Amino acid sequence: VVPVLTIDGPSGSGKGTVSRLVAECLGWRLLDSGALYRAVGYAAGAAGLDLSDIDAVTRCAQSTKIRFHPSADGGDTRVLVNGHDATDELRTETAGAAASAIASIPSVRQALVDLQLGFRKAPGLVADGRDMGTVIFPDAAYKVFLTASAAERAKRRYKQLKEKGLSVTLSGLQREIEARDARDASRAVAPLKPADDAVLVDTTGMPIDEVVAKVFAVVRS
Ligand code: CDP
Repeated sequence: VVPVLTIDGPSGSGKGTVSRLVAECLGWRLLDSGALYRAVGYAAGAAGLDLSDIDAVTRCAQSTKIRFHPSADGGDTRVLVNGHDATDELRTETAGAAASAIASIPSVRQALVDLQLGFRKAPGLVADGRDMGTVIFPDAAYKVFLTASAAERAKRRYKQLKEKGLSVTLSGLQREIEARDARDASRAVAPLKPADDAVLVDTTGMPIDEVVAKVFAVVRS
């Protein structure tokens, strides 16, 4: 079977960066499952849908074409939503909140299952998200759950968004991230929580190369 490493955790825990680095090092494929939820939230908004309209948003999740493309200049992977490069729009906390809203709908999550399973191809997969180790790849050989203090997670996300030229405030971002985490952790379906067999890593105050080393230790164990 094709090995899978799942990296789950809340916003700003470092899972995006760590997943990318580890996948590159191992030569494994990368699934950024959050980008799928962001893409559906974005497509639903672009179509003028009410995000609480379960049937309409579910149809949107079933029909939205999402593709990942390496960028021409070696930068961030581009995310194409129905043929439109939405990478920049998907980064914003507005897109994160829309993703979290539609991600609480069970039929939306169901619509994205096969797409996610399809990423499991030789020689291996690093799967980044909230429910990779609990729901999508429960049989994964390696599971990690990253956490960090709320203040540190907000700071990291602030720095990331600033670097991308977005105008954000630290206090506003911390409030938005906390609201999103609370919703993700309390929803009925696939709530944010570590798999029973996941290795927990608290990354508060930990440089990224140390987090990467800890994740590698799990894969080599
Ligand atoms: O990067 P960040 O952790 O802030 O967000 P993300 O991974 O892009 O995910 C955005 C939102 O999508 C999350 O707040 C979750 O509500 C949802 N999501 C999910 O429900 N399940 C996943 N496997 C990944 C994301």
